[in-house]
Amino acid sequence: MQDYASLYAQSVNDVESFWLDAAQQISWDTPPETGLDRSDAPFYRWFPDGRLNTCFNAVDRHVLAGRGDQNAIIYDSPITGAKSKMTFAELQQKTAKFAGMLSRLGVATRDRVIIYMPMIPEAIVAMLGCARLGAVHSVVFGGFAAAELAKRVDDATPKVIISASCGHEPNRVVEYKPLLDAAIDLARHKPSHCVIVQRDVVQATLVDGRDMEWHAAHEGAVEMAPISVHATDPLYILYTSGTTGQPKGVVRDNGGHAVALNWSMRHIYDVSPGDVYWAASDIGWVVGHSYITYAPLIYGCTSILFEGKPIGTPDAGVFWRVIAEHQVKVLFTAPTAFRAIKRADPDGKFLQQHDTSCLKYLFLAGERADPDTISWAERQLGVPVIDHWWQTETGWSICANPVGVEQLPVKLGSPSVAMPGYNIDILDSDGHVLPAGELGAISIKLPLPPSCLATIWGADQAFIDKYLSNFPGYYETGDAGYCDADGYLYIMARTDDVINVAGHRLSTGQLEEVLADHPDIAECAVIGVADQLKGQLPLGLICLYPSSQRKADDIIAEAIDLVRSRVGRVAALNQIIVVDRLPKTRSGKVLRGTVAKIADGTDWTMPATIDDPVILDEITAALKTIGYAGG
Ligand code: COA
Ligand code: AMP
Repeated sequence: MQDYASLYAQSVNDVESFWLDAAQQISWDTPPETGLDRSDAPFYRWFPDGRLNTCFNAVDRHVLAGRGDQNAIIYDSPITGAKSKMTFAELQQKTAKFAGMLSRLGVATRDRVIIYMPMIPEAIVAMLGCARLGAVHSVVFGGFAAAELAKRVDDATPKVIISASCGHEPNRVVEYKPLLDAAIDLARHKPSHCVIVQRDVVQATLVDGRDMEWHAAHEGAVEMAPISVHATDPLYILYTSGTTGQPKGVVRDNGGHAVALNWSMRHIYDVSPGDVYWAASDIGWVVGHSYITYAPLIYGCTSILFEGKPIGTPDAGVFWRVIAEHQVKVLFTAPTAFRAIKRADPDGKFLQQHDTSCLKYLFLAGERADPDTISWAERQLGVPVIDHWWQTETGWSICANPVGVEQLPVKLGSPSVAMPGYNIDILDSDGHVLPAGELGAISIKLPLPPSCLATIWGADQAFIDKYLSNFPGYYETGDAGYCDADGYLYIMARTDDVINVAGHRLSTGQLEEVLADHPDIAECAVIGVADQLKGQLPLGLICLYPSSQRKADDIIAEAIDLVRSRVGRVAALNQIIVVDRLPKTRSGKVLRGTVAKIADGTDWTMPATIDDPVILDEITAALKTIGYAGG
C-alpha cells in the first residue's frame, strides 16, 4: 500500500480520480463516470451520474456475498440488562419490512422521517429502512427537550416520526412520548403518523388515528427492495448548533457519504470486513450516524450498539467487559468518557478483570483530547490512542493518523495530519495564509471531499453565509488553531460562540435566548468554562430587572429549569451568577472570552475597548463565590 505522503499528494493533485478509485469499493446501480460536478459552485456535487442505494451497500450486498449469517449489530444495554444480536440477513429482512411499512404510510423517496429514539436496534433499522426507500431521515438526539424537537419538526417537515415509549438514563427512565406529543403540539408542521416502539417499562399512550405501535404498523407490510437514488440525493439531515437558537440542518448525500466512509474504515481505522467495531456514542450525534450505523455496516463490520455510560452502568469496567465479551477490535469514543473512567478507576483495577487483548486501537474525537488522558489510556490499554478531528458538517475526520495506511508518529495535543481531499490553510482575519506555527482560522479549500455537507436543509444562502463567505474559496471550520512544520494540526478554540460539553456541541447563543425569556432577567450572557470531566461547562451571567422583587436564588433555579425544559438536560447549564451589568466593549459587544479566561484563571489582558473596567472586578468576585477565578 502507498504511504501517507503520496496518498495525500494524489488526493489533492488529482482529487477526482482519487475518489473515483475509492468509489469502486461501493456497489452502484449506475457506476459514476464523473467524480465532481463543479457547474454550480460553490455547491459541489460528488458522483453526479452515479446511482446507488445506501441500505443495499450497508446490508444486502453482504448477504449476497454469502455473509448473511454474520452479526451486523450487537446490542448491549447494561442499563436494562438486554443483549441481542442481529445478522445481516435479519437486518435485511427488517429494513425491507420497515421500508414497506413507511411506504404504506405514504412516505416516498425524498420525504422526511424524524427518528427520535433511544439506543435500541430499532433505531438503526429505522435509519437504514429510510435509506432503503430513499426517504431522508433526521435523527434527533433523545436528550433534547420538546421545544428543540419542535424546531426540527418545523424545519424538516417529516411525514412520519419514529419514536419509542422511553429511554433509560442511569438514574431515571426518560419518557419520550410526552416529549414527542408536546413537540408536535408546539410545531406548526404536523406529521401524519408516529410509529412507537413500546419498551417494557413504559407503555406510551397512543393518539388514535395518528400513532401506531411499531409491530402493529409493520403487520402485513411488504418487504421492499432498495430503491435506486442519485448519488447526490440526500440521505439524511442532521441538525447541529450554530451561533443562534436555530439549529442548522446539515445535509448529507448518498454517494459521497458511502464512498468516504467506506474508505475511512480500512485506511483510518485499519479494520477488515468481519471485525467488530464499536463507536461508544449516540446515534443522535454525527459519530453515531457515521460510525455506529453507516461506516461499519457499509464496510461489512459488526457494529456495537451500546446503551449505557462509561461509568455507573454498573461501574467503570463496563467498556472493558464489552470489549472482551464481543471481541472489539476498534473502540471510538469521546475523551470525556475516558476522563470519567480515569477518575473513577485511576489505577485501572477494573481492567485487570477482563482480557482486552482483542483491542488494537482507541480512537478519540468530539473535543480536545488532553495529553494526560491520552497517555493514561495508552498505559492502561497498551494500544495506540489516536486523536482525530472532525465535525458534524464533514461526517468523517478532517485530520487523523491513518493507521491503516501508515502509523505516523503521534504528537500529543494534535489530531495529526490532513486526510485525503482536505486541503487545509490557516488564515488571518483578512484571509491571508499564515505560516507554520501561527494561530488563525482553520479553513479548508473548496471543493470539500466526499461526504461533507452539501448544503443546509432549505437554506442554500445560509450555507454560503455561515461557511463560505468570510474567506472566499474556503470552507470556514469555525475552529482556530495552527499547523506545525510537519503538517500536524493543533485545534485550540472555536472562533464562534459554540462550546463543547462532554463532546456535545452547544450554542451559547441558544442558551442565552432561553435565559432571556425569563421574566426577571433583563440581560444575560453564557460562557464556556473549563471542566476537568466534560472539557467545558456552560456558565450563565444574568442581570435582573431593577424592578424585580424576587430572591436571586429562586430566579436562578427557575432559569436552570427553563434551560432543562426547553433545550434538555444535556445542556448541563447548572451554574448561574447574578451580576449588575455585563462587561461590554464600547460598541456593546459582550466580552465573553475575557470572562471565560478570568473564570478559568488563565492569563488575560484588559481589552482596550472595554466600556467600564470596574465591572470585571465585580464579576471576578462573583465567580470566586462559586469556585472559579481562583476562588
Ligand atoms: N436522554 C435523556 N437525557 C439524557 C440523554 C438522553 N439520551 N443523554 C444525556 N442525558 C442527560 C443526563 O441524564 C444528564 O442529566 P442530569 O444532569 O440531570 O443527570 C445530562 O443529560 C447530561 O448528560 P451527560 O453529558 O451524559 O453527562 P453525565 O453527567 O450523565 O455523564 C459522562 C458524564 C462523562 C459519563 C457522559 O458525558 C459521557 O458518557 N460522555 C461521553 C461523550 C459522548 O459519548 N459524546 C458523543 C460524541 S462522540
Ligand atoms: P460536532 O459537530 O458536534 O462533532 O463538533 C465538532 C467540533 O468539536 C469541532 O469543530 C471542534 O471544535 C470539536 N472537536 C471535534 N473533534 C476534535 C478534536 N479531535 N480535537 C479538538 N476539537 C475537536
